[in-house]
Amino acid sequence: MAEAPGPLERLLGSESGIEHVPAEINTEKVSIARIYDYSLGGKDNFAVDRAAAAAMMEVVPEAMLLAKANRYFLRQAVRYLVGEAGIRQIVDIGSGLPTVGNVHEIAQDIAPETRVVYVDNDPIVLAHSRALLASNDRTTFLNADLREPDAIFGHPDTVRLIDQSQPFAVLLGGILMHLEDEEDPEGVAADLRDRLPSGGFLMVSNTCDNGEPRAMELSRVFAESGMGSRCFRSWDEQIRYFDGLELVEPGLVPHNQWRAGPDIPEPDSPAHSMHIGGIGRKA
Ligand SMILES: C[S@@+](CC[C@H](N)C(=O)[O-])C[C@H]1O[C@@H](n2cnc3c(N)ncnc32)[C@H](O)[C@@H]1O
Repeated sequence: MAEAPGPLERLLGSESGIEHVPAEINTEKVSIARIYDYSLGGKDNFAVDRAAAAAMMEVVPEAMLLAKANRYFLRQAVRYLVGEAGIRQIVDIGSGLPTVGNVHEIAQDIAPETRVVYVDNDPIVLAHSRALLASNDRTTFLNADLREPDAIFGHPDTVRLIDQSQPFAVLLGGILMHLEDEEDPEGVAADLRDRLPSGGFLMVSNTCDNGEPRAMELSRVFAESGMGSRCFRSWDEQIRYFDGLELVEPGLVPHNQWRAGPDIPEPDSPAHSMHIGGIGRKA
């Protein structure tokens, strides 16, 4: 039996063939968003992405588990921010391709009035997110770059949806690790913290150098696959992303330990220490 088409095929039409993929989507070059989609069990990816994912799994067979755990932490964070902390405005930078349990779906399930601005610099995310969000007037998508925060926070859609004088949350799920040291991830995090009003939150999740040699090996395979950087920074380096914020319990920890919920994939795998996440609150 033929498999059901994924959102990309539905968007492009299953008969359309590769030549009808929008010009800005390069099917020959790997994409972080599409590899992540593949790792989560999605269908919006091409052979080049699947080959790169296979290369990563040769080094770390639990690579797909790590992606699922990253997504789990994102869900946990949104449940906490909207369900417990009362946040009703979210800017999700490096949002990735829509998948099951998107930020706006979790948030608006808990509090329908929650507004969400999604941001990603991959054109494939733009194509999908526009289709998904066409009928949701509390949610929008910007094709923009984390390294240009003024373009994000000054964008008319952000200004329309997010009252930046009131508490809002910035989500940086699996994105700072894609910035090189020269791109100053600490400075980028500091800029975002400065934009938060009192009562605002910063969520960060990233790969972590847990001392295992295969962490460095995975970083190398990632770069050699043409995906750019996936830096494994230490806990000590990453805690600085939260400078001046109050860390929400239990702090900056492996994803399976952040208020472990029922939907954590394979909760006991030792590989979880290769990914950490935390949430900080501005006093
Ligand atoms: C690993 S995915 C994470 C998706 C989602 N945040 C999550 O945690 O499940 C990282 C995303 O960040 C995006 N990205 C990477 N660098 C970026 C940048 N400089 N500006 C905006 N988006 C970026 C990629 O296109 C990709 O969709």
